[in-house]
Amino acid sequence: MCGIVGYIGKSPAPPILISGLRRLEYRGYDSAGLAIIENDGIVVTKSPGKVASLHDKARSEWPEERFDTASAGIAHTRWATHGPPTESNAHPHLDENGGIALVHNGIIENYRSLRARLEGKGHHFLSETDTEVLSHLIGENYKENLFQAVCDALHQVEGTFGIAVISAKEPGKIITARRGSPIVIGVGDGETIVASDASAIISHTRQVIYLEDNDIAIVTANGVEIRDLDQVPVTRDVAELGFDAEAAEKGGYEHFMLKEIHEQPEALANAIRGRLDFNLGSSVLSGMGTSARDLSEIQRVVMLGCGTSLHAGLVGEYAFEDLANIHAEVEQAAEFRYRNPIIGRSDLVVAISQSGETADTLAAVREANQKGAFVMGLCNVVGSTIARETGRGIYLHAGPEISVASTKAFTCQVAVMLMMALKLGRGRRFSLEDGIKLAREIESIPELVQKVIDQSDAIAEVAKRYAQNEHAFFIGRGYMYPVALEGALKLKEISYIHAEGYHAAELKHGPIALLEEGTPIVALANDIPGKDKTLGNIEECRARGARILGVITEGDKEAAEFMDDVIEVPACHPLVATVPTAVALQLLSYHIAQARGCEIDQPRNLAKSVTVE
Ligand code: F6R
Repeated sequence: MCGIVGYIGKSPAPPILISGLRRLEYRGYDSAGLAIIENDGIVVTKSPGKVASLHDKARSEWPEERFDTASAGIAHTRWATHGPPTESNAHPHLDENGGIALVHNGIIENYRSLRARLEGKGHHFLSETDTEVLSHLIGENYKENLFQAVCDALHQVEGTFGIAVISAKEPGKIITARRGSPIVIGVGDGETIVASDASAIISHTRQVIYLEDNDIAIVTANGVEIRDLDQVPVTRDVAELGFDAEAAEKGGYEHFMLKEIHEQPEALANAIRGRLDFNLGSSVLSGMGTSARDLSEIQRVVMLGCGTSLHAGLVGEYAFEDLANIHAEVEQAAEFRYRNPIIGRSDLVVAISQSGETADTLAAVREANQKGAFVMGLCNVVGSTIARETGRGIYLHAGPEISVASTKAFTCQVAVMLMMALKLGRGRRFSLEDGIKLAREIESIPELVQKVIDQSDAIAEVAKRYAQNEHAFFIGRGYMYPVALEGALKLKEISYIHAEGYHAAELKHGPIALLEEGTPIVALANDIPGKDKTLGNIEECRARGARILGVITEGDKEAAEFMDDVIEVPACHPLVATVPTAVALQLLSYHIAQARGCEIDQPRNLAKSVTVE
């Protein structure tokens, strides 16, 4: 996820900005940059890759004294969303005249129309980013008052932002603002630091002010003045940071996995934002690069992936068939690449990959391209090889996933495939009314997930009762079958418990022989079609002494009677329910692994990106 640091005060800014960026490195990023005010002008240095490269670049290109004199500046680590991680796309971005510099986290949704309007007025853009449009817009509104210009510009943008802005004409201030993307201001002695995350501040001061949505602040070396976007003064309390620098790296969470589980409401909101059309009861997924005509010609959707991404594809298979009435298949990418698959022009091949670098999925993409299919990527990492080679696709916008065990990528992949199925469905079987209903259900996913995350402590208590077992089975039917597979994968990879996912009906065709007194069964008995049959299967397990942990729909007393322990997920559309149910299983696995003292973020034998066959 992108990171922001701004500094103004008694010490030279460049070293503080660079060390602040280093503190934000844990968030994941792919380019970095900084801007300082010097002699009535702005100096910008940017670099793809690591903060170390940015530092080396500044050291080799800048005169030595610049490091010791500049007393104000802004800096950024960028996680690419609009355009690949190149030097020109890195922040800060300047306005048309080069006198204003901006760093930005978030997404400006209406940047295309703003850009067209500014181009009409003679503006020239040097990057593909939404952010550069905002810097030009601020410049366009600038009349000797940076605060006013930023307010005016922000009134015209739709989307989310956390920003820091400087102007060569007003060297004694930084303007910062937020909507949907955090900004925290550290108030020191003769110095003030702006950041997207307290970890960049903590080595300077523990006194901080958290901006709220639609706050805009004038930051000087001696303090902070905060107003709302209508310029009405607002008061925000000064808080004391209660954690040390090391804890701050993971946003206060003990592990990246837990942090990423908790980030899911935000990640999902980012994946969904601007992509649902409630007037048409459909979704807007221009990245698919398909016209209505192309869509109507698609006869089959073939999803390819590995591991967790494969499981997301299995949910997608149900979504495409049930919602869009289109034949769908999902295939393990390594198998697809060697099997001489029969595919052609009427097939939509969707390569699902968080990293966009998985060797087997990439090879499968090449095979599908070779055979003339309509190939698209569903990736999280912008500019990754699969994203480039597919040439079209939809980014997840989930933010960087650092923990080896994939969590937020899975839920965002499912959410995006539900939106794809909605789009295809509207062209085939869905009425306007049904489309709007489903769009509303998809929109509610972040809230549903938050309700599950709020039960984390209760799930931790349940987890303790299963932490000593060496085997576990996860069972589910229909939409919950792939979620059972994913739940078992999550548990085995981080807790080293031998866990297997089965279709609930499949258990009696062999695996039931393994059940004995106390064998744990995690049963996904959500109130969806097939629940009664799953309850029947649970009875069969109970009769053999198994201990049943049921994941059930909130308030379902009938299902609860079958269980030794329960985790409840909120009631919602049965396909949408796959997302909060998966989150419940992520938390269960996390807390079991935690209770067993496992190395959660770096499980043995595993790597984040599998770039070998
Ligand atoms: C499991 C996990 C892996 C990945 C798989 C594919 O938690 O992370 O199973 O899902 O290696 O990776 P991507 O999605 O990057 O292609």
